Amino acid sequence: MLYLLMCVVASVVSSTDEYALLALKSLITSNSNEILAKNWSQGASYCNWIGITCGGRHQRVRRLNIANMSLRGTIAKEIGQLSCLRSLNISNNSFHGFIPNEMGNLSQLREIEMQDNELNGSIPTSFGFLKSLRNLNLFQNRLSGEIPNRIFNLSYLVKISFGNNSLSGNLPIDICNNLPKLETLIISSNQISGNIPPSLGKCTNLKLLSLSRNFFTGGIPMEIGNMSKLQYLRLGMNNLTGGLPSTIFNISSLLELSLEFNQISGKFPKDPCNKPAMLEYLDLRYNKFHGEILTSLFQCHALQNLSTEGNEFTGSIPNEIGNLSALQWLSLDENGFSGSIPNEIGNLSALQFVYIDSNILTGTYPLLSNFGTQFSVC
Ligand SMILES: *[C@@H]1O[C@H](CO)[C@@H](O)[C@H](O)[C@H]1NC(C)=O
Ligand SMILES: *[C@@H]1O[C@H](CO)[C@@H](O)[C@H](O)[C@H]1NC(C)=O
Ligand SMILES: *[C@@H]1O[C@H](CO)[C@@H](O)[C@H](O)[C@H]1NC(C)=O
Ligand SMILES: *[C@@H]1O[C@H](CO)[C@@H](O)[C@H](O)[C@H]1NC(C)=O
Ligand SMILES: *[C@@H]1O[C@H](CO)[C@@H](O)[C@H](O)[C@H]1NC(C)=O
Ligand SMILES: *[C@@H]1O[C@H](CO)[C@@H](O)[C@H](O)[C@H]1NC(C)=O
Ligand SMILES: *[C@@H]1O[C@H](CO)[C@@H](O)[C@H](O)[C@H]1NC(C)=O
Ligand SMILES: *[C@@H]1O[C@H](CO)[C@@H](O)[C@H](O)[C@H]1NC(C)=O
Ligand SMILES: *[C@@H]1O[C@H](CO)[C@@H](O)[C@H](O)[C@H]1NC(C)=O
Ligand SMILES: *[C@@H]1O[C@H](CO)[C@@H](O)[C@H](O)[C@H]1NC(C)=O
Ligand SMILES: *[C@@H]1O[C@H](CO)[C@@H](O)[C@H](O)[C@H]1NC(C)=O
Ligand SMILES: *[C@@H]1O[C@H](CO)[C@@H](O)[C@H](O)[C@H]1NC(C)=O
Repeated sequence: MLYLLMCVVASVVSSTDEYALLALKSLITSNSNEILAKNWSQGASYCNWIGITCGGRHQRVRRLNIANMSLRGTIAKEIGQLSCLRSLNISNNSFHGFIPNEMGNLSQLREIEMQDNELNGSIPTSFGFLKSLRNLNLFQNRLSGEIPNRIFNLSYLVKISFGNNSLSGNLPIDICNNLPKLETLIISSNQISGNIPPSLGKCTNLKLLSLSRNFFTGGIPMEIGNMSKLQYLRLGMNNLTGGLPSTIFNISSLLELSLEFNQISGKFPKDPCNKPAMLEYLDLRYNKFHGEILTSLFQCHALQNLSTEGNEFTGSIPNEIGNLSALQWLSLDENGFSGSIPNEIGNLSALQFVYIDSNILTGTYPLLSNFGTQFSVC
């Protein structure tokens, strides 16, 4: 409770807030519309400055929102003295340089939004002390080094987004041992290597998991099927091997499964949609799936986009494809499909794009009822 005391005790500390804000302003070297230069002036109380929200008896800074202001500069370490700060948003500016370690002192922080800047260096290990943190968004910066493991131990976290940086290292094997509330985990477009930890399955509130565009190897763990609220599963553009665990299709809330550009092999699991399935988007492009494409796949009535190109599927295309009445996009090209093209494809009235070239199909191409459909057969 020390931090609570620090937050209310002396009225002296409110002048610390002003000092810290002026320090922050002093390192902002460019502000194309001069908002801060004009507005953050000592004539008026800092609680009336643009982007500042104060609260409590002592009028301490609770919220700092200077997103979208075309600010350029580094972040002053004095930010760590805004000891009552709960919410920080500096997104969509051009802040560069390091994230100050001193931010680890802001024990009341619930929200850090720093996406769309040019911050570099590593994620401060001191973030691991921000016990109240709900939302940590560092998307689209130039951060490198490893993710401090302690961050995955902050049990109030609802959203973590580290996507589009240059982070490396592995994910901790016990990543989800203490993240009961986590709904969003975005680590896409980094350089993370190693296996996908099976303990991810313990993040049972996860709705969006994006690990695409990294260097993950090994298999997709069966335990992923335990994330019963998952809607978006994005694992594309890694180097994943092994088969696709059928447990994934235990997740009846799944809307999107993206596995493109990996080395996933074996047959596609049977009965992917034997439950009330919502699957809309299935991207299997450029893997090593083989065997026949199962009739049961065509019970996924909500499918809008089915991309199978660049695999080793064989056999004929079942007539049941005509069940996919919501289908807008179908790619079957670069496989070993044989036989004739089912006329039922012609009944799919939502279909706009069909790619079936580079197979060993025979017969004629069905006339598509939907005007404007592009049928690529070259
Ligand atoms: C600073 O901006 C706030 C919010 O837009 C406004 O209410 C205030 O009058 C401005 N102060 C100065 C000195 O420009
Ligand atoms: C920044 O601009 C975007 C797009 O105009 C807007 O949606 C968003 O609410 C703005 N953010 C803030 C914090 O003002
Ligand atoms: C970023 O800020 C600019 C104004 O500086 C605004 O036009 C743009 O919509 C914002 N973009 C986002 C993604 O918020
Ligand atoms: C922070 O600013 C970004 C960019 O404008 C915006 O998208 C986001 O919603 C803001 N976050 C909060 C909590 O206001
Ligand atoms: C604030 O953080 C810095 C660096 O992490 C540390 O050295 C310092 O002791 C902290 N100050 C307080 C008051 O906790
Ligand atoms: C971070 O960027 C600054 C320029 O803003 C550069 O001088 C520094 O070398 C960079 N550091 C790292 C670790 O990339
Ligand atoms: C994670 O948190 C638990 C309980 O809050 C604590 O016992 C454990 O030491 C922490 N682990 C790390 C690596 O910080
Ligand atoms: C993230 O990075 C990728 C690859 O550099 C880029 O294509 C994409 O537009 C970026 N995403 C966002 C939302 O900026
Ligand atoms: C998670 O899934 C695995 C394999 O699918 C299973 O053996 C295990 O019991 C499940 N764990 C929990 C906590 O449900
Ligand atoms: C992917 O894995 C294969 C087989 O293990 C290996 O030959 C290849 O070099 C790996 N590619 C990358 C980009 O890591
Ligand atoms: C999950 O999937 C596995 C393999 O497909 C199956 O044996 C198991 O019964 C399923 N569990 C639930 C709860 O649906
Ligand atoms: C369908 O997925 C492909 C990638 O497989 C993508 O290029 C295309 O834009 C998607 N189409 C629709 C309508 O979502």
